[in-house]
Amino acid sequence: MCGIVGYTGPREAYPIVIKGLKRLEYRGYDSTGVALQNDGLKVYKKKGKVADLEETVVGKNLHAHAGIGHTRWATHGEPNDRNAHPHQSASGKLAMIHNGIIENYAQLKNELLKKGYSFKSDTDTEVLLNFIEEIMINNACSLEEAVRVALKRVVGAYVILLLNEDDPETIIAARKGSPLVIGVGKGEHFLGSDASPMLEYTKEVVYVNDYELAIIRPDELILKNLGNEKLTPYVQKLDLELAAIEKGGYDHFMLKEIFEQPQTIQDCLRGRLDAEAGTITMAGIEQYAEQIINAKRIVMVACGTSWHAGLVAEYIFEELCRINVEVEYASEFRYRNPVISEGDVIIAISQSGETADTLVAIETAKAKGAIILGVVNVVGSSIARISHAGAYTHAGPEIGVASTKAFTAQLAVLCMIALKIGYAKGTLSRERYMGLLKELNAIPEKLAIALTHSEHIRGLARKYMDARDFLYLGRGYNFPVALEGALKLKEISYIHAEGYPAAEMKHGPIALVDESLPVVFVATRDSYHEKVVSNMQEIKARKGMVVSVITEGDEVSTGLSNDVMQVPECDEILAPMLSVVPLQLLAYYIGVEKKLDVDKPRNLAKSVTVE
Ligand code: AGP
Ligand code: GLU
Repeated sequence: MCGIVGYTGPREAYPIVIKGLKRLEYRGYDSTGVALQNDGLKVYKKKGKVADLEETVVGKNLHAHAGIGHTRWATHGEPNDRNAHPHQSASGKLAMIHNGIIENYAQLKNELLKKGYSFKSDTDTEVLLNFIEEIMINNACSLEEAVRVALKRVVGAYVILLLNEDDPETIIAARKGSPLVIGVGKGEHFLGSDASPMLEYTKEVVYVNDYELAIIRPDELILKNLGNEKLTPYVQKLDLELAAIEKGGYDHFMLKEIFEQPQTIQDCLRGRLDAEAGTITMAGIEQYAEQIINAKRIVMVACGTSWHAGLVAEYIFEELCRINVEVEYASEFRYRNPVISEGDVIIAISQSGETADTLVAIETAKAKGAIILGVVNVVGSSIARISHAGAYTHAGPEIGVASTKAFTAQLAVLCMIALKIGYAKGTLSRERYMGLLKELNAIPEKLAIALTHSEHIRGLARKYMDARDFLYLGRGYNFPVALEGALKLKEISYIHAEGYPAAEMKHGPIALVDESLPVVFVATRDSYHEKVVSNMQEIKARKGMVVSVITEGDEVSTGLSNDVMQVPECDEILAPMLSVVPLQLLAYYIGVEKKLDVDKPRNLAKSVTVE
């Protein structure tokens, strides 16, 4: 959900808007555009970078005193020129940019289609824009009033900026669930997703809240709620520097993304999971539900952290759907001449959607008749495009090289698929299904609780940062989390770490244990817990240091551990979404204590597009 910029005032708007978009590039995006009030609305937009947009407007008359700009992170409609923002209404008199997801856009679109509307793009944004214009025409009301009425019908997250050709110096803005900051200048106003686009012009800002609407003119800022009551804008003096703003006030993108997880899981569930109604809506999966239900096996194909998500999914799918699941390293799968039968279902898991090994692996499988489902974060990415169907993780751009929020979002999507298929197949009782839906719905708030222990974990990082090696152990659903925790530590702190099934220790690795070796147990309370406790005792008996991720209040594990990191109680199937968080934080803080570049670790790329 990327970036918005706006300006209205005496200066030339275009340079301010385009520079503001560049300030927001760090958030990751796939396309960009601007709309200017220049003797009518002028809109320039395209897939690609801001620099590409600048090239297309060379020689154009860009004179304007009001303008809006957008960097898109596609959620509805793949990245291309047509789907880029700003969108123009059917009359051409309104232009709008939007960050967020309009969940009920399909319903609104149907209503508009019945009224004879047609659409130039595949986006939810264009639907909302025409919905607003339809109200404006129908009710013969102002744009401000139409926006207020429309937003009462909208389900989803948005920040929107609108220009009206008939009111050239006014910008209408509204937000719910996506950020909006208004910069207050002298006879001018600035807008942005954060303060970075306006920082060089003003440090006086108003943070707009959910369900608020702003009418902005050069010398006037009116703030209202959707009930049309005027609100007093609270103007704050910014003391943040640019670098800090880009990271949302966090020291690093990785930390910001770890702390975004309550929100990103909410975004991932948004419009899909309805725990009250007991429904999971995933169009991409529904069209292949029969094939998945009847599949003889499901093969998870991925790399790195995404492979760990596939390993968790193996346990979940086998438990809930009673389908044989295999998890393959894409790099091995593609070179092994694997046995693929017609009707096999391959689930490709990838944050970037561009990992070369995963891409080639599924091309191979597709050629042999398998059905390819993509669980991908980047909309319109290569893996998304060659998959038959799938579900996006909606985790937003992940800038830190180490994958954190994308991993938990992958788990949430994979959980929803398994729940949907298991229930449809009849291998999952309604009672357990409804219970798990309710629990999944509560994960965002439990993530927020898990994150409250970050300072304690920072202390543990200082305590254990000089260890030469770490072992990470877990059983069942938490075994892949042990692998993930070890990978996080390796890639962020450059300390060697290995993940193992806890029971595997006695087959060799326990020889490593001595008083210098921290052994991290992923030991949340589950059906394996008693066994894990005895594994802890084995380590303690050999003077190893036990550091455990435990369920809040687990006195037994606490008594056996040198240190603990607590997460809230939840069903074991969902536990990895919580138990991974302390391990993400532990790796992050050790990397920071060692003064390493935690956002860009040495030798690593965010997306491994080479083989
Ligand atoms: C995880 O922290 C690493 N950045 C890496 O293992 C990553 O998960 C792997 O390269 C797969 O990337 P993908 O999810 O974009 O396909
Ligand atoms: N949902 C809108 C789209 O897909 C906005 C995406 C964004 O937040 O950039 O175009």
